[in-house]
Amino acid sequence: MMKREVMEDSITMNGGDGPNSYTQNSKFQRAASDQVKVLLSNTIQEKLTIENTSNATNQQVFKIVDLGCSVGPNTFACVQTVVEAVEHTFKTLGLESELPEFQVFFNDNVNNDFNTLFKALPLDRQYMAAGVPGSFHGQLFPKDSLNFMHSAFALHWLTKVPEEVTKENSPAWNKGRITYVGSSHEVLQAYTEQFLKDIKAFFSARAVELINHGLLAILMPCRPEGTLPSDSIVMHILEVLAFALTDMAKEGLISEALVDSINLPIFIPSATEVKKVISNIENLTIERSEKIYYLPKKLSTPEDVRFCTVHVRAVTEGILCKHFGPELIDEIFERYSKKIEEFSKTLDYAHVEKMENLFLLVKRNAI
Ligand SMILES: C[S@@+](CC[C@H](N)C(=O)[O-])C[C@H]1O[C@@H](n2cnc3c(N)ncnc32)[C@H](O)[C@@H]1O
Repeated sequence: MMKREVMEDSITMNGGDGPNSYTQNSKFQRAASDQVKVLLSNTIQEKLTIENTSNATNQQVFKIVDLGCSVGPNTFACVQTVVEAVEHTFKTLGLESELPEFQVFFNDNVNNDFNTLFKALPLDRQYMAAGVPGSFHGQLFPKDSLNFMHSAFALHWLTKVPEEVTKENSPAWNKGRITYVGSSHEVLQAYTEQFLKDIKAFFSARAVELINHGLLAILMPCRPEGTLPSDSIVMHILEVLAFALTDMAKEGLISEALVDSINLPIFIPSATEVKKVISNIENLTIERSEKIYYLPKKLSTPEDVRFCTVHVRAVTEGILCKHFGPELIDEIFERYSKKIEEFSKTLDYAHVEKMENLFLLVKRNAI
């Protein structure tokens, strides 16, 4: 049988529960999910109607998926919020005796460490769990089959790096950089187009999979309206990796060609860009949209620098390992840590400080 080899497969967070794992280094995402917990719960109770729960094939099962769940533990907290909010809605409507059974699907790319996820499943959970491997940019479930879909901090990942960006003879060749920060207009354009194409595919698939009146909650990083894509602090922090890699190339530790050919498949959109795509998808409407602003913690102490370094490592190590090999990873992140410390003292860092997350509740209209 042919082995599949697509970039999305290697977009996974660090597995296991060791010091560089996503499990140990996802407090930033956890804090953001905690920030919208009440909003998520209230919005479900406001927008979920009993009609939402009736599934054409099985009236008694309420099916939930967390798309881009990673290895935990954040996914379990989000799922718990959803289950409790649905139960509460039933009770408020006087339908306690009709509480459905819950089935929860945990989705991520095929190389996700599902074993770590399954081993960490809460023992006292009130739902039956299953893993669903595969890209959420395509259809993962039968049509009209899911009651509630959730995704946090995953939609900024692209299916792939736009091809033009990696081609030496292309006007969009992104030599010496790994994101679109500080790049040409052509690079930014290529990234923007890839993102819009990818989220169109994401929302189109959800429009098929959700039951009539089914709901989809999204939490994702966005850049404040009116700012340039390259002004995002998240992207700047990632671009600092290129400084470490370039030094290593100059010292002959890695080839320049290898450095020139790596780019991260990440794009931070504005809320308007995301909402425009959804509004063009038949059968989906945005029921609630909230922007959550916050100031990221300043990189002012060695502990802040360490936190940032290991967090970026937990998220990017898989891609870097595939490109450069595992033997250089420690060296890359030791250098990255020093570069981040230097970056925290620059004007670029002082300039880009405001961050925004976007919360959306989307409904599949009845057909
Ligand atoms: C930063 S983690 C977020 C994990 C979790 N939702 C949380 O809030 O902590 C993003 C996750 O999205 C997954 N992901 C990225 N692209 C994906 C895709 N096309 N299909 C499924 N999962 C994807 C990554 O593998 C990763 O586990």
